[in-house]
Amino acid sequence: MNNARTVHIKSFGCQMNKLDTSLVASALREAGFAFTESVKEADVVVINTCSVREHAEARVVSHLGHLKHARKHRPDMIVAVIGCMAQRLGESLLAHDVVNVVCGPGQIPQLVHLIEEAFASNAKRMAVADVIRDPEDSSSDALEQFESAYGHEGEEGRALRGQAFVRVMRGCDNFCTYCIVPYVRGPEQCRPPARILDQVRRLADEGIRQVTLLGQTVNSYQYRNGQKTCSLADLLGMVAEVEGIEWIRFVTSYPSEEFYDDILHAMASSPKVCRYLHMPAQSGSDRILRAMNRHYTAAQYLELLARARRIVPDIAIAGDFIVGFPGETDEDFQATVDLVQQARYRNCFVFKYSPRPGTTADKRHRDCVPDEIKQRRNVELLAVQEAVSERLSRGFLGRIVRVLVEGPSKKANVNPTDAHSHPQLVGRTATDCIVVFNGSPSLAGRFVDVRITETSPLTLFGVLAE
Ligand code: SAH
Ligand code: SF4
Ligand code: F3S
Repeated sequence: MNNARTVHIKSFGCQMNKLDTSLVASALREAGFAFTESVKEADVVVINTCSVREHAEARVVSHLGHLKHARKHRPDMIVAVIGCMAQRLGESLLAHDVVNVVCGPGQIPQLVHLIEEAFASNAKRMAVADVIRDPEDSSSDALEQFESAYGHEGEEGRALRGQAFVRVMRGCDNFCTYCIVPYVRGPEQCRPPARILDQVRRLADEGIRQVTLLGQTVNSYQYRNGQKTCSLADLLGMVAEVEGIEWIRFVTSYPSEEFYDDILHAMASSPKVCRYLHMPAQSGSDRILRAMNRHYTAAQYLELLARARRIVPDIAIAGDFIVGFPGETDEDFQATVDLVQQARYRNCFVFKYSPRPGTTADKRHRDCVPDEIKQRRNVELLAVQEAVSERLSRGFLGRIVRVLVEGPSKKANVNPTDAHSHPQLVGRTATDCIVVFNGSPSLAGRFVDVRITETSPLTLFGVLAE
């Protein structure tokens, strides 16, 4: 083992991207690679990249700059760039001095082979789908096999004890005008329920207690097999039957009229389905929503939230917003503020519009909202949400909540009401509230009850309840 080749892997993207990282890690381990935290010691460096905003790509570019230095001492080091940016930039990334291998998200089953070839011949290698939307593209079979082979194993890449992500859909057909994802991840494909269930069972056998089902518009999951169709609600029901699985989440939901109530009913009736919905609105202005090619109005969106709360009264809802979409006026932004005030989100994520080459928004419009204004709107929207979150958090004071423990808290959040006999741990409730309390690190991956003694807008602090 001591002369095994070593690999260092880093992810820059979303949960989908991190899931790919863990599959790749398992494949590399099977091929005999050992993992290292240190770039300097690595024979191979794999960087999994994101293209969703320019900033995400800029971080990768600067990381490649660092690698150039490491390369000076290790001229035979192999650098592989994978993920969405690899798909988007292909050849031009390969032209970068330091990059040996470029591999798109649809080609990850070939990655180990590409790395071996790069080692053997010291040559550059690239695999990205030429026409990623080609329905004849056979890469989806290979992907399915890759996922089945590696989707259930390996602690490396799996960030948290007791928790795992399971992909239920690949790609996206929505083409929101600002978004690069359909171009780099290809068309929507739902995985067969039997494969998904098999994977969940194996995860449960390994001690996984929470699974998060992943898809870009996960609520529209639908798998047809002859006469039968399996919806997300059906899938939730089947996953809930798997022994050992305690909590089931799913992200991200698209605000559509269809594919909705049955999921909420599944949530209301099964204690295993977490009462949490991540359903981005993106904007509160109907004019901007139309320009974004989102198929709903602000009023329809709010009605969906109201329906969710009628069926699942204590549901927690999270949203995403883009500020500074081309043409967004003060009035449009005010409509977004109004929406956030009415939505009662537990949490929301705000992004400044970033033009993505090749998308419809980028072709149609100039990125005309100045960055200062995007920045100001970003700060203002977060402040509006913070007030909402603070109010919701305070409602937890004195209550006992069930928490799945993640591990030691990164931030030194000190809870003044507890003695420091134990380190600070962090965990989450089923409704995705972050909870900080003192306890033994051996609790990671387990469920505990915590009595809430202090709150801040995004964090609840408490003590272990007996
Ligand atoms: N499929 C998910 C989200 C995918 S990307 C969904 O549809 O909800 C995650 C978030 O990034 C999006 O919700 C959106 O808010 C943001 N985003 C996507 N493209 C962006 C862009 N070009 N500029 C800024 N934010 C963007
Ligand atoms: Fe992008 Fe829209 Fe698809 Fe989400 S639904 S991945 S925002 S195109
Ligand atoms: Fe995810 Fe970024 Fe790709 S958000 S799907 S890694 S573009």
